[in-house]
Formats: sequence, structure tokens, C-alpha cells
Amino acid sequence: MKDSLIKKEYSRKIKLFQKYNREYYNNNTSLISDQEFDLLKNEILDLEKSYSFLKNKNSPSLSIGSIPSKNFKKVKHRVPMLSLGNAFNETDLINFEKKILNFLSLGKSEEIVYSAEPKIDGISASLLYKDGVFVQGLSRGNGVEGEDITKNLKTISDIPKKILAENFPKSIDIRGEVFIKNSDFKLMKDKFSNPRNAASGSLRQKDPNITKKIPLKFIAYTFGYAENLTISSQSDFLKNLKSWGFQTNKFNKKIISTKNLVSYHKELDEKRKELDFDIDGIVYKVNDFNLQKRLGFAANAPRWAIAHKFSANSSISEIINIEIQIGRTGALTPVAKIKPVNIGGVIVSNATLHNEDEINRKDIRVGDIVTVERAGDVIPHVISVDQKKRKINSKKFFFPKKCPSCGSKTVKDFNEQTKKFDAVRRCASEGYDCEKIAVEKIKHFISKEALNIDGFGKRIVENFWSLKILRFPQDIFQLNYKKIENLEGWGDLSVNNLKNSINKSKKVSLDRFIYALGIRHIGQENAKLLAQHLKTADNFFKLSKTKDVKTLLNIDGIGETQIKSIVNFFSNKINLEVLYELKKVLNIPNAEIINRSGVLKNKTFMLTGKLKGISRAEAKSLIEKNSGKILSNVNRKLDYLIVGDKPTIKKINTAKELNITTITQNEWIKMLNKTS
Ligand code: IVH
Repeated sequence: MKDSLIKKEYSRKIKLFQKYNREYYNNNTSLISDQEFDLLKNEILDLEKSYSFLKNKNSPSLSIGSIPSKNFKKVKHRVPMLSLGNAFNETDLINFEKKILNFLSLGKSEEIVYSAEPKIDGISASLLYKDGVFVQGLSRGNGVEGEDITKNLKTISDIPKKILAENFPKSIDIRGEVFIKNSDFKLMKDKFSNPRNAASGSLRQKDPNITKKIPLKFIAYTFGYAENLTISSQSDFLKNLKSWGFQTNKFNKKIISTKNLVSYHKELDEKRKELDFDIDGIVYKVNDFNLQKRLGFAANAPRWAIAHKFSANSSISEIINIEIQIGRTGALTPVAKIKPVNIGGVIVSNATLHNEDEINRKDIRVGDIVTVERAGDVIPHVISVDQKKRKINSKKFFFPKKCPSCGSKTVKDFNEQTKKFDAVRRCASEGYDCEKIAVEKIKHFISKEALNIDGFGKRIVENFWSLKILRFPQDIFQLNYKKIENLEGWGDLSVNNLKNSINKSKKVSLDRFIYALGIRHIGQENAKLLAQHLKTADNFFKLSKTKDVKTLLNIDGIGETQIKSIVNFFSNKINLEVLYELKKVLNIPNAEIINRSGVLKNKTFMLTGKLKGISRAEAKSLIEKNSGKILSNVNRKLDYLIVGDKPTIKKINTAKELNITTITQNEWIKMLNKTS
């Protein structure tokens, strides 16, 4: 077929897709069955895969994620709705528990009590109760702000509208899962593709009368904000939920030790088929609320909970080709293009091969028959090769020694800590010299966690790049809108929306800005630490000029690796240019300094030696929770050196020389217990 005909056919399909979507979301009507809808969607995706010139911003390949629908008011959660880390096997669970024991400074033989709860595959919701009355219900949204779907949630009979129990907190967010039973779903199969979509679609209806007709269920399992909650464990909380009139899962169970978690996982996995609702794993939570509080959160997930997913689905397919993808940090990732196979209801045609070492270890070759696994939301990967089916003329795959995008040499970093070379090979070119890296950098810059430019997706970046509209992040703020308006798939309205969201993104917090730059080893957490330390964008820009990074070593969590990477980033001329161009257009307010009112306010600490009954990690987090600061070496800025068992004598001596107060663990605890 001629390119122009293909384009025409593609546009026609996109228009149809849009029409069905519009009807469905705005007018609640399905013009075709879900199977037909899925078929159309797959046809569009297949066309895009075969012809790289096909791009359209209304393509189903761009409409992913749970962007709150514009029909609902957005409301900030009083306490963010975070996600959970995943475990796939016993080793993952053992590591999860090990980390907990280490953090709490407990011995290996210590037993942790867990609350095990089936993880229902539905839509989470947060219900705000004031004086026992259900006043507002929010969807998860992006975790920080959700959609106000109160009216729709009110139609669910499992959700109590008024709670009279005396021990019900004055103000509390009750959180749980909205879902639909499989037996109910059967009756509406032709409208939705699976029960989860049915629940989600129903909750997002504009007209609550339509939601009302759908038999949605609600199971409660946790809380967000809570005033004067006197309950001390998750299992007790679940009991209370029941007594307050909420539905809880009858398979919730208190379990001690990871061994028993594994056997419960097996038991439920077998029972799964008989249940009338879909579960995709089990959530394990440290039962004791006190321990939960001590453990706290790392990045986006709690340290005290994990989701143990049910085993992966796998299928067999053939490797058609091995392509090398280049990531933002230059990492070369081999990806197997495989003959499309259906794995657990999803058509898979790409599977990651991880890195060069993995290919060599498994001797993976083009033409091989392989087992591909897809577990949860994780990218499908090749787990094994069927050597017996290999053709005699098959050739070993040689990993490219040059970057396939820019031709630069590729390198494997040497890790000083492990004394080993990285498994990952990287393109050695810096900054924006390598085209693929540059595109990935821009995608990162606009991503949700960075500048968060609504409606500016990855495909748009690729499209603008190929049209030479974009080369550097700063180009985003100088777009030629006239030119864009004339591109296929763009119109007045969409260009205006883009303009507005770009303008909105010009005001960005310092941590997001630092994160957006895509400095290697500076993820969200480290960017936050840097922003808290530097306080103003000016200080950051100053740093980029002076490269005087010594003081950064005082930030707990920032180490040599990060500092090296920052210096490296600032040594690149193009990076500096990007930085200064961005400085001209962006408005970066000073960092909001978090919680500066604790008892250790304005005090700096350093630890040496082992403390009794508390791990280093927890001691540090306690100091930070109370507004204190941790330094990682003894210098004049240090106020207190906390001396534990078997301290480093050199540190004590330096502290003495500098007249720094040394304190014992008990003295430190006394400081913590003092009320300010
Ligand atoms: S607790 C920080 N408990 O799993 C605690 N979540 O990835 C997070 N989920 O979005 C939530 N059953 O939709 C929790 N018993 C349960 C759950 C559960 C299902 C879902 C929930 C959340 C996701 C976490």
C-alpha cells in the first residue's frame, strides 16, 4: 500500500476511535462492543508499529495512565495516597523483612507480625468522614490530588453514609477499593473489557444515576488522615472498620514470619479461581502501628508494607530481532522484538533482555524460541531459551561496541564499592550530543514527576524532535505554535491547551527543577534533599558555576557517587547552556523548608559507633523527623557527635580538637524527649 493510503486509513481509524471514546465518556453510550473497540485499538497500534511515520496525539498509544477526567473537580488528599513496592517470590519477601529488621535494629530471629490482606484489583478511593458523616469521596488520581467523585461514591451501598459509633474518629479518611463482582460483571460484559474497567468507567460517569445502576462494591482497608485514632494495630483497625459498618475482606489474616506468608500466598493463589472478585496479590503490612510509624516511608512507598503479586503469566514466542534502546542516562538496553503473543490477556511484542551480560549468560540469539514472562506492571522479559529448538545456522549475538544512535564508544562503569564492572553498557557521549539520549532527556524533563506538562506526551516529543521543532528542553518555551497548528492531528483547541499547560509549567519547585535536569543518580528523593539544602534556585545556579560541591557531602543521603555525577553534569558546556536558558524562562520559588519546628531545630548531628536498640537508619530518620540535620563528617558546623559502642576514635579526637560536644545515646534520647 502507498504511504498516503496508509496515512488515510490510519486517520480514519483514529477518528473512529475518538468518536467511540467521546460517546463512551461523555454520553455513556457504547456504539460498538468492547471486543470491536479493542480490535480497532490494536489495529491502530499495529499500524503505528509497522509504519513509524504514523503519529497522532489522539492515538490510544498516548492515552495511558489515570489522568483525572476533566469533568471532576480536583482535590488534594489530606495525606497522599501512596503506592506499594512489589514482591514476586520468597527472596523478595525475605529481603523486605531483612530491611525492616535492620531499620528497627532487631535481631534476625525477631518475629514480625503482619496483617495479610488480599489485594483486590479495583479502583482505590478515599472517603472523608466528619463527625461520622460521609462528606467527600476522592479517587486516587496521581496520589497527591484526586477527583471529587462524591456523588458517584454515594450510590454505593457498601459505603456507610453516617456512622454513629462512639469510637469513630471525629475526622478520618477511610480508604479502600471500589470493585465489581465477577458475577455482576458477566451481565455487562459487552460494555466493558474487564471488571476493573467496569468499576473505573462506572465511577467516572458524569451522571450518578448511571453509576447507581452498576452494582459497585467497596472494601475498606486503611486510612489517610485521622484525628485522635487510638487503635494500635492494623488488625484491630480492620476489626473496627467492620464494627463501624464497612465491609472488610474475609480473607484478611494476621500472620507471623515470611514462611507463613508464602504458604498463605499459595493457599490464596489456589482459592483465587473460586472467588467472585479479582485479586492480583496479597498486601502484607507490619501489623503494629508503632512500628509502622518508626519505619516510615521511602520515596513513594511505605517501608512497612509490600504487595506480593501472584505468579507471572508466561508464553512462548520467537525472537524476530534484537534492538538496542538508549535511555536517558545512555544505558543501552537490548530489547527482543518477538512474534506477538497473548500473555494473560495482553498482546506482547517486546521483551526486555536487560543488558549485555544477561544476553551473554543466556546466549540469547535472533531466531530463538523463548519463554516470555509478564508479571504485574513489570515490563515483559525473556526468562529462558529453548536450546533444542535452535536452528543450526543461528549466530551468536554481539552487543554493539558503539552507540547505535551517535556512534560514540560505549563503556561499562567500574563500581568502586562492589569492585566490579557494571552489567550495563552506556553510550559515553555527554549531554545532548547523542540524539537518542537527548530525546529521552526531554521526555524526562516534561514527565509527571518533573515539569509535569499536561498533554505533552512522549510521542509528541518524538514527533517534534523528528520535525526539528525540539532540540533542547528550553525549546519547549519557544515553540512555533503556528507551525504546530498546521500539523496533522493538531488544531486550535489542542494547540491552545498545549500553550496553557506549558505556561503553567513555568512555575516549578526547586526540587522538581533539579530532578527534571536528569542528572544521573539524582532521582526525586535526592533532588528533594538538594533543594532543601540549597534553598534557592540562585544557590543551585551558583553551584553550577563554582562547582564547589564540598558542602553537599553534609547532606545525608548524598554520597560520592551523586557528587561526582553532579560535577560531571556541570562540566558539560551544553548542560550549562540548557541550565541558563531555562533560568531565563522559569520561575523557581525558594524551597519550602519542611518541618522546622521540631525539638532538634537548627542542630546538627553525627553518629559514630553502634547504638543500642536502634539502627543507624532509624536514628537518622528520627533526627530528621525532629528537624535536626545529619552531617557526614566532623567539621565546624557539627553541634553534636553521638557516640555509641566501638566508635571511631579519630572522629572523637577531631571533635575534641574542634570543641564539638560529644554526647551519649542516652543524652541524645533526652534531647529528643524534651518538649520545646
Ligand atoms: S494499602 C501505603 N491495602 O493496592 C499503603 N492497598 O499499590 C497503600 N490495594 O492503590 C495502600 N488492597 O488500590 C492497601 N488491603 C490493601 C489493598 C490495597 C488493594 C491497592 C490500592 C493501592 C494499591 C497499592
